[in-house]
Amino acid sequence: MEYRKLGKSGIKVSEFSFGSWVTFKSQVDTKLAKECMAMAYEHGVNFFDNAEVYSDGDSEVIMGEALKQLNWTRDSYLVSSKVFWGGQKPTQRGLSRKHVFDACHAAMKRLQVDYLDLYFCHRPDIDTPVEETVLAMNDLIRQGKILYWGTSEWSAEQLREAHQVARDYRVIGPTMEQPEYNLFHRERVEIEYSRLYETVGLGTTVWSPLSSGLLTGKYENGIPEGTRANITGYEWLKARFLSPEGQAQIAKAKELRLLAEKNGMKLSQMSLLWCLSNPNVSTVILGASKTEQLRENLAALEHKAKMNPEVLEAIEAIVQNKPEHAPLF
Ligand SMILES: NC(=O)c1ccc[n+]([C@@H]2O[C@H](COP(=O)([O-])OP(=O)(O)OC[C@H]3O[C@@H](n4cnc5c(N)ncnc54)[C@H](OP(=O)(O)O)[C@@H]3O)[C@@H](O)[C@H]2O)c1
Repeated sequence: MEYRKLGKSGIKVSEFSFGSWVTFKSQVDTKLAKECMAMAYEHGVNFFDNAEVYSDGDSEVIMGEALKQLNWTRDSYLVSSKVFWGGQKPTQRGLSRKHVFDACHAAMKRLQVDYLDLYFCHRPDIDTPVEETVLAMNDLIRQGKILYWGTSEWSAEQLREAHQVARDYRVIGPTMEQPEYNLFHRERVEIEYSRLYETVGLGTTVWSPLSSGLLTGKYENGIPEGTRANITGYEWLKARFLSPEGQAQIAKAKELRLLAEKNGMKLSQMSLLWCLSNPNVSTVILGASKTEQLRENLAALEHKAKMNPEVLEAIEAIVQNKPEHAPLF
């Protein structure tokens, strides 16, 4: 495992990290969570990702119980939460000072930790002035309850505004953004944020590197039982996979699988390494519902040398979706 700087910050995050969206509670209980987290940690993973909304807080309860049982020293790992979707009441959601504070306290309690290492605004909140959120995050930093704050799926414009506000108040702007990034979803990371890596030193903790499993090849012959697309509540994902666009991606994934196999890798492994081939990615958050999946994904690192320019070019020739900068005029 190698470690990358989280943007311009001093903290170094493992190139693969581990998250709990969908999986913890609906597919993974505390025992399995503990097994997966132990496997990840033993392979050098130092960042575990969570959010208040995952399984309505139960994902953090499970991770907190696993962390307690694993008993790692607190200075050897990073754990996150994200604020935005708390409860249904107006005070329980969004990025108001109140919800940012309440959600932080609740996450610390569920995760059984004294502070959160990374704390994300899970989405932008157009009803809250950005000053309010930037200053609330800085107050939490000063109180020692969070160490770094960031965003998830904010536009480049919104990030620039947050940094401008932080400069105006001489406080800390968002250190990291958590965007989707995989072979089928590239625009934001590769184009929209491209200047922010230099201007504000933005770090990225990217999500759904396997496009929810599509980039493993498992959906080539329909939707198998026991997969994410068959979980109640994720009908939207099944519909996406069955849509013409989804079917076209599955066809491309098949070509990618053949390329991966020709080069002695699994499609999952090649897809994860492709994300890592972008130097602006600080960490790729892995998701897994089974230990075997996590083992296979972590083993991708053994194949790094296979991602040579020829393989990267062959990947581009298959996906044919490299985003381009708009012409200046
Ligand atoms: N900030 C945000 O808005 C946001 C959004 C989404 C995710 N995230 C974060 O990113 C993390 C990762 O996202 P993700 O879970 O969508 O990642 P992903 O890698 O795209 O999908 C993971 C899923 O793919 C399947 N899978 C993984 N490895 C496999 C393998 N080797 N062989 C076969 N199937 C495999 C499993 O699903 P099956 O159960 O179907 O087998 C697994 O749960 C989340 O846990 C969360 O922490 C953040």
